[in-house]
Amino acid sequence: MATVNIDGKDYDLPDGENLLHAALSQRLDLPYFCWHPAMGSVGSCRLCAVIQYADEADQRGRLQMACMMTVQDGMRVSIEAAFAADFRKQVVEWLMEHHPHDCPVCEEGGECHLQDMTVMTGHSMRRYPGAKRTWQNQYLGPFIGHEMNRCITCYRCVRYYRDYAGGTDLDAFGSRSRMFFGREEDGVLESEFAGNLVEVCPTGVFTDKPFSKVYTRKWDLQSAPSICPHCSVGCNTFPAERYGVLKRVHNRYHGAVNGYFLCDRGRYGSHFVNHDKRIRQAGIRADDGVFEAPGRDAVLGAAAERLSLGDVVGIGSPRASLETNYALRQLVGQENFCPGLADDEADTMAAALDIYRAGGFRIPSLTDVESADVVLVLGEDISNTSARMALAVRQAVRGVTFEMARDAGIPEWQDAGVRGHGQAAMTPLFVASAASTRIDEIAADTLRGAAADLARAGFEIADAIDAHGFTDDFVGAAAQALAGAARPLIITGAEAREPGLLRAAANIAWALRRHGRGREAMLALTATEANSYGAAMLGGGLSLADALGRMRDGATSIVAENDLSRRAPAEQIDLTKSIVLDALESPTAEAAAVVLPAATYAEQTGTFVNYETRAQRFYQVFEPTDDVAPSWRWLSAIAESAGRDGLDWSHIDEVTGAASSGVFTPLKDSAPGAAFRATAAETRIPRQPHRYSGRTAMRAHVSVHEPKASVDDETPFAYSMEGQNTGAQPGALVPYVWTPGWNSNQSVFKFQQEVGGALNGGDPGVRLIADVPVSRDPEPFTLRGSENAAPDEAMFVVARLSHVFGGDELSAASAPILERTPAPYAVLNPADAKRLQVAAGGGVRIDELDMSVEAREDDAVPAGVVGIVQGIPGAGLITTATVNLAADADFVRPGAFSGGARGASPSHEGAFSGGARGASPSQEPGGSDVIARG
Ligand code: SF4
Ligand code: SF4
Ligand code: FES
Repeated sequence: MATVNIDGKDYDLPDGENLLHAALSQRLDLPYFCWHPAMGSVGSCRLCAVIQYADEADQRGRLQMACMMTVQDGMRVSIEAAFAADFRKQVVEWLMEHHPHDCPVCEEGGECHLQDMTVMTGHSMRRYPGAKRTWQNQYLGPFIGHEMNRCITCYRCVRYYRDYAGGTDLDAFGSRSRMFFGREEDGVLESEFAGNLVEVCPTGVFTDKPFSKVYTRKWDLQSAPSICPHCSVGCNTFPAERYGVLKRVHNRYHGAVNGYFLCDRGRYGSHFVNHDKRIRQAGIRADDGVFEAPGRDAVLGAAAERLSLGDVVGIGSPRASLETNYALRQLVGQENFCPGLADDEADTMAAALDIYRAGGFRIPSLTDVESADVVLVLGEDISNTSARMALAVRQAVRGVTFEMARDAGIPEWQDAGVRGHGQAAMTPLFVASAASTRIDEIAADTLRGAAADLARAGFEIADAIDAHGFTDDFVGAAAQALAGAARPLIITGAEAREPGLLRAAANIAWALRRHGRGREAMLALTATEANSYGAAMLGGGLSLADALGRMRDGATSIVAENDLSRRAPAEQIDLTKSIVLDALESPTAEAAAVVLPAATYAEQTGTFVNYETRAQRFYQVFEPTDDVAPSWRWLSAIAESAGRDGLDWSHIDEVTGAASSGVFTPLKDSAPGAAFRATAAETRIPRQPHRYSGRTAMRAHVSVHEPKASVDDETPFAYSMEGQNTGAQPGALVPYVWTPGWNSNQSVFKFQQEVGGALNGGDPGVRLIADVPVSRDPEPFTLRGSENAAPDEAMFVVARLSHVFGGDELSAASAPILERTPAPYAVLNPADAKRLQVAAGGGVRIDELDMSVEAREDDAVPAGVVGIVQGIPGAGLITTATVNLAADADFVRPGAFSGGARGASPSHEGAFSGGARGASPSQEPGGSDVIARG
């Protein structure tokens, strides 16, 4: 540490850090624009000016940019010195010469870093009389709006988009004082991380387009800490609501998981919460097949009666909370419970859990992923399945440039210096996949094959590390690089439903351990959904095939938040005696006997378990309307109606507490319970900022009297602006970031122990399976089963492909995401396409799906393999390892999905969403389907 005197006070600051970073870590208010905690310093905006003095005798000093100063022992600087303060004020005045004074109509207003810096530096009078520079805006796709006149030329956007996220279609154009930031021409921003521009740009140039349509000022939004429900990475989010409408999702900083960034599926995938196909009333199917809504108690009675009819099975879900899955397991009994994963997925998750429990490696957080010095991605297209992890891998690939810079004496934060010195150097990344992936462009080498081939290659890599014999091919190069690495990382996952891939990856990790005499590799096994690990860890006595078999034999089923048509062929699913709990209409809900409206993640509190087995709590952002309730509460109510004991839970803490035993023992520590109070004054933590306005006006159409705010007795939060969000509370309980003078998301530094470090109260979540050091080397797996199977040469081997937009059930019901969701397609090697005589832009018939899809060609796909995209609307369900293909001369390429459509499912207009007999539609202003129709 170095002792640095700032404005007469000594501070212990980390040696070698830049002064801006170090000063902000001390909570000092030092203005800045171009510096970003994740992207370092370029020294271009000149706003972080301070005076540096040579010694105590030096009264004049010299102006320096704090973000470009290296902390050194004995330094003397001043932030407050008049010359520095005047300079900073002048910088803002220069920038404001061309900035439109349009704060009242700018969406950034009220959470704008430029506004904050203008106030902080004291610029208040416009002296420049000239005309302002103006620009034409561009169409950038369904996610991002563009208002270039507001640009202050800080270059953060291109540094983020190109240098950090690897995008290529956004750039800086022009020269001198006429700089344009956008695309070469109008068009959709291609990067799946483009949405972060909304938070990275310090002004209102890049705006959240879906949010624009239902805009609300930041101070009028109600929010709570939450977890993204769209994949197994478990990024932390701030969903925000007003008028019962989920308006937007912003990043919630987590020091070990998502840091400052989300993927666009996470940011824009939550509009399903507002969908007009929400199930809002409890219903019973009448004899004529139409749903009736006789009222909550009558429906509960009907559900309880079905429960008493005899054989009962419960099917949980990898997208439902741990508490809901647990409640269902308790209701039906372990032997009658199926976690709701498709059978091949359940096998893969079982392999993942066996491997994680065996240990002998480290399960990496995303921060750990960024630190890897060799990466092997084996048979998982992480850009589509776990996008935020792909962004972390991109940072790992830059790692070598930081090492080179260190050796050359260039500090890590010196962004331009690091890049200039490192040039095109990249940390070795090896990608083994069935088709092209978006991280191929940064890979040292790629290998292509079907999942079984890639698993075999993985076993060979492990053998090569053990044998210290490295061939001159992908296997040899990957083995040699991993064996020579200090922090090797292997990533695979459940996308291919191939347990052999996971076993091969484990073998590599264990071979590295033997090779390194105890040095542990990092091994990340991703899953397909937000709570796949939680559901799999709950286990159950039934596979999905067993459960469906019993349903066909007449068993009553309770299906919690699971559209079974996505996991098993329709002919295997008999739902005539089923009780279905879900938030959205689906083929499963449509076929049920009893339907109970489930709360979405934004309307309830619960826990998801991510790929690290990190249990993280998400909190209710707003209260649901109509009959909507958390599934665990419905299950508890069914139990009560049926006279069952032991499930009479009224609070989420009771369910979490009951579940916290065995492997789930750490669960109770994942977040504080309802009794937690952050201050001595015993105040709650407000979901609403202290300037939240219009509490009377927003309900004036119902009553001119402001109702008492609901009391939340399940969590430490309040549905009001009363209380304190000090930032000192545990990290899991931060509902938004704001501090005096810092109205934008830049205020997050005041919630961190140090800039870029853990939150003040610790980063949220607990690991359920810890990294337990093992004294003996785990026994490696041997090649078996499908890894050894020889394909039938007359058929095409299926490679399951994923799509980040619409590839999961919930984002597929989000209107803005649907605009980026392709129609179903298959990817073929060009030689195979030619052999089948598939016309350019034509279609290919897949016999096993009884449908034709768009045929795409990809040199990377091996001959005899076909990549078939799964999960997106209309994609069909592949259940066979091989398929018959034929060209479809009559194929007509479908148009893009419309914003309001839910492509995979037929229209169920009015079945549950207020149109059922006897049901009353929601009276909430703003309409629950505003975004869906937008
Ligand atoms: S568009 Fe925003 S982020 Fe990009 S240079 Fe302009 S102000 Fe900076
Ligand atoms: S979809 Fe996955 S990677 Fe993207 S924000 Fe959500 S959890 Fe993170
Ligand atoms: S933040 Fe230091 S020059 Fe921009």
